[in-house]
Amino acid sequence: MNVYEIIKKKRDGLELSRDEIGFMIDGFINGQVKEYQMAAFLMAVYFRGMSARECLDLTLAMVDSGEKVDLSEIKGFKIDKHSTGGVGDKTTLVLAPLVAASGGIVAKMTGRELGHTGGTVDKLESIEGMQLELTKERFIEVVNKIHVSLICQTASLAPADKYIYALRNVTATVDSIPLIASSIMSKKLAAGTDGIVLDVKTGRGAFMQKYEDALALSRTMVDIGEGAGKRVVAIVTSMEQPLGYAVGNAVELQEAMDTLKGRGPKDLEALVIELGSQMLFLSGVVSSKREARDRIETNMKTKKGLEKLGDLIEAQGGTRTFIENPALLPQPKQKVKVNAEGSGYVQKIDALEVGLASMSLGAGGKSKDEPIDHSIGIILRKKVGDKVNKGEPLALFCTDGDSRKIETAKEKFLNAYQIGRKRAEPPKLFYAKVSRDGVEEY
Ligand code: URA
Repeated sequence: MNVYEIIKKKRDGLELSRDEIGFMIDGFINGQVKEYQMAAFLMAVYFRGMSARECLDLTLAMVDSGEKVDLSEIKGFKIDKHSTGGVGDKTTLVLAPLVAASGGIVAKMTGRELGHTGGTVDKLESIEGMQLELTKERFIEVVNKIHVSLICQTASLAPADKYIYALRNVTATVDSIPLIASSIMSKKLAAGTDGIVLDVKTGRGAFMQKYEDALALSRTMVDIGEGAGKRVVAIVTSMEQPLGYAVGNAVELQEAMDTLKGRGPKDLEALVIELGSQMLFLSGVVSSKREARDRIETNMKTKKGLEKLGDLIEAQGGTRTFIENPALLPQPKQKVKVNAEGSGYVQKIDALEVGLASMSLGAGGKSKDEPIDHSIGIILRKKVGDKVNKGEPLALFCTDGDSRKIETAKEKFLNAYQIGRKRAEPPKLFYAKVSRDGVEEY
């Protein structure tokens, strides 16, 4: 097989065979395919796209580049959830314990900070002693005992993705649906669960800003997962404004705990109920969506989900007192109110800018190895549709007291808010459900 011929074939819009795709991926990992050749190949895929069969073969070749987690020692249907990322997205922190308390088995490998959004791992590390880097054996032991564990995804899963992603980042080939879908699904398939519920975000704060693109990405990921023998459902949801009110690490964990106590923000609660119901239904532990919903809602009201979060914290090195006493979480040095500069109704909140404002305050590490200050973040006081008077707080900044950072973040944050005279409706949260049976719009 010849690298030049494979690149040319894709450049000319022809379909590649499984062997040709495997040759490119294996060759790239072992150094036979050079970076400039892979870069040209990625650009050809960017312009020519890939058929469903090619996307599946590309994903499986990336899965084969690394470790495949064997979860067969855990009895029952293992379910995972993945979000394409959004500002204030603490859904997993609520969903994982709640689904486990409702009869599902959640064995989830999860990520750290990505760009302007903090990762679930970073948020959980706000809890003193919490261990996210468990061995596979301990991970399996915890899931078998309490039906939930969240651990840090290791670099040994689909390593081809890591190298290809780095190249995509510098060759303007990130935003290609076959490349994004294969990148996400290779890590999910390698993580070894039986089912995956995907939360595909769309809107200004999301990776896929346009609905049509989010839908196309959802279809491609569902086809890949089902083609690989897994059960997969994707829900397209809105990221037109931050999810809930908290953006950061400890503040998001606290909001997740409030939600498990039944006093969370309405949008987060609705999202958790919808995604949780899909996870239970896909797992086959309920016979209808109605039953799935009832179980999730009941376990939120009766705080069984919160108790399960306590079990999870305890099993992974922390103490369960955090669930009753969130004041134990890292506290910021200084809290600063950010007030509205005009009166009216909140028309829009640019989620991306809010995420960037939180990063400016120092909510993320400057580099991969720099420790994160978990106490830093933003708590919104107003969301789209709310009435606001000049001088009233739009948000509370949780800061380390550095006035330069606060000023930069304030400017970004105030630019994120659009306040106007007209009454405004909150954006709709759910757009569509994509499964092997097709697309259902909400
Ligand atoms: N997230 C991923 O893991 N991969 C992509 O290509 C984009 C988002």
